[in-house]
Amino acid sequence: MDFVRLHEVGPRDGLQNEKRVIPVAEKVALIDLLGRSGLRDIEIGSFVSPKWVPQMADTPDVLAQIMPVPGVRYAVLVPNMRGWDGFMTARVPGVTYEVAVFVAASEGFSQANLNCSVKDSVDRLVPVVTAARAAGIGLRGYISCVTDCPFDGPVKPAAVAQVAQMLRALAPMPLSLGDTIGAGRPATVAAMLDAVLDVAPAADLAGHFHDTGGHALANIAVALDKGLRAFDSAVGGLGGCPYAPGAPGNVATERVLAMLQAEGFTTGVDPAIIAQAAEMAKEMR
Ligand code: HMG
Ligand code: MG
Repeated sequence: MDFVRLHEVGPRDGLQNEKRVIPVAEKVALIDLLGRSGLRDIEIGSFVSPKWVPQMADTPDVLAQIMPVPGVRYAVLVPNMRGWDGFMTARVPGVTYEVAVFVAASEGFSQANLNCSVKDSVDRLVPVVTAARAAGIGLRGYISCVTDCPFDGPVKPAAVAQVAQMLRALAPMPLSLGDTIGAGRPATVAAMLDAVLDVAPAADLAGHFHDTGGHALANIAVALDKGLRAFDSAVGGLGGCPYAPGAPGNVATERVLAMLQAEGFTTGVDPAIIAQAAEMAKEMR
């Protein structure tokens, strides 16, 4: 109960919003440093349309050039079969990967991010999930806008629970609950978690808090109270929000680590290496 699993999303969720074209070598250096930190989950890219997210277009090169660390699982986002095929072509034999599929709890964000309705986005994942299970590759499901949507406003906890059920009906995958625009507050996060915990156990849930509103650590504390023991974070707080220019990005791994240590949790992650990675991440911005 004292162990918390950190899922580092800086190289993907952090860098995907950067305007500067970041050279593959810089991404690879960051990922390889993170790989030496004790982190067991590092999200390294996306097989999405390069027109939608140009910064992730070099993901196949990233897969080819990193020095995979045994025991580390490298995650990539896959929205459809086109992305699945891209991943299968790029994957390096012997490396442990996780395929992350992603949907939203709100229609507005689903249209903006995936160009389709929530239901269609889940339906589109059926062949991806089937292929990943057949290939023995682990799955993770993201749900965005779990408390607030930049287009639709507050999101009902029941809507999040419904999408969680839809994803888990596809396959028994762990779910990451995304406060995409960092608008969640402890009370709204608690209400959302109560609804989702009715359809999935805490052991299968992760918190994914953007820190736009400065409440990410308080929201993590609420999630810890509810029994969650997995959180997503990005070194150096990488990742702005396209809907809030200049605002902080994902909650910073080094801040989450410090909080967890102070609260007596263990993570297996070396804060000194995370501090180095945070410096490297800041220089990349
Ligand atoms: P679409 O335009 O509806 O798709 O986009 P389409 O099937 O009509 O295809 C349009 C073009 O894209 C075609 O090319 C396809 O071949 C190509 P064209 O004929 O025009 O030259 N295409 C692809 N190319 C490469 N890889 C692919 C792919 N699929 C189609 N996989 C689509 C639909 C899903 C593709 C698009 O909406 C998309 O790529 N969306 C991804 C957006 C994204 O990556 N967002 C960020 C990640 S989610 C996130 O950050 C939230 C999270 O952090 C949690 C949280 O904070 O809440 C996870
Ligand atoms: Mg995110």
